Amino acid sequence: MPQPFDRRDLLRQAGEARRQAYAPYSDFAVGAALLGESGRVYAGCNIENVSFGLTVCAERVALFKAVSDGEQRFRAVAVVTATGVTPCGACRQVLSEFAPDLEVLVAREGATDYQVHYLPDLLPHSFDSIL
Ligand code: THU
Repeated sequence: MPQPFDRRDLLRQAGEARRQAYAPYSDFAVGAALLGESGRVYAGCNIENVSFGLTVCAERVALFKAVSDGEQRFRAVAVVTATGVTPCGACRQVLSEFAPDLEVLVAREGATDYQVHYLPDLLPHSFDSIL
């Protein structure tokens, strides 16, 4: 049986990560907190670049930190922004590589309420095989 986890605390950690965002071009700060099966949480923020296309989203920063630290199985990701948006298509695909059934929590900064989504609903018919 999977252990319960504190969704509000994961969202709080995403809000903390958002404070590290480097977003001088869009002024749209994003924070993500990715909960591994180990119980460890990996935080990420968006990191923009003057060459705009080189920007990396908060969710992918969190995922890449986790994988490079040896964790490849995940329970949930929390994402906090000013508007409470869901992860972009590129991040959905990248998250799906490691956690196709991932729970995705989204909230606006400072809000007490949040939405719960599941990756298969956010990314139906995902690309999952080249074989
Ligand atoms: N961004 C994220 O960090 N995650 C998403 O899922 C969507 C967009 C960032 C990229 C860019 O720095 C800013 O938000 C505006 O698009």
